[in-house]
Amino acid sequence: MIGIGVLISGSGTNLQAILDAQHTGVLGGTVRIVVSNRPDVPGLARATVAGVPTRVIPHQAYATRGAFETELVAALRAAEVELVALAGFDRLVTRVLLDAFPDRVLNIHPALLPAFKGLHGQRQALEYGVRIAGATVHFVDPETDHGPIIIQGAVAVSSDDTEEVLRQRVLAVEHRIYPEAIRLVAGGRLSIVGRRVVRTGERPASIPPPLVW
Ligand code: GRF
Repeated sequence: MIGIGVLISGSGTNLQAILDAQHTGVLGGTVRIVVSNRPDVPGLARATVAGVPTRVIPHQAYATRGAFETELVAALRAAEVELVALAGFDRLVTRVLLDAFPDRVLNIHPALLPAFKGLHGQRQALEYGVRIAGATVHFVDPETDHGPIIIQGAVAVSSDDTEEVLRQRVLAVEHRIYPEAIRLVAGGRLSIVGRRVVRTGERPASIPPPLVW
């Protein structure tokens, strides 16, 4: 089984979805370590409950992003990680991490990229007035929220939605598409052709419909 490292900074509900998929045998990999750049976050407790080793590596303790990521890479390698999943990890990553795991770093973003990059994707979607919002799992490249797209899931936006209501609706989709994307990558089912991710083999049965609400 491919070794997976999950990087978090907070509540870790996507981490939980990944751990749940592993528990039911559909992830196609094993989460070997959870690393947080912040201490005492709920995601660390989720990992501990699941019996997964954790590390806290506080980014403030390092003079540069590169030095921080060198420590991250060392921790991930020591845990025999081959695939890295950013799950609510609130640091921008650089080539130090990306070059250590080429085409093996994934991220989830709470918007339908390339729309609404950066922070607060759901708030941006509401303020823009779009009728369809969603989430994206993508390979990470050096540009923020930019790499090749693996799966997107969509939700309807109602005119009386609050940011929190939309956030929860998008989150439910995130929890479906992130384990699925990891399963595809872990199974060697994807190749990157330019910006496009090409899937080989049969279409996954669990892929979400385009609209979920
Ligand atoms: C999610 O909305 C994810 O898309 C974004 O950060 C949030 C993390 O939530 N990158 P959680 O920590 O997985 O609950």
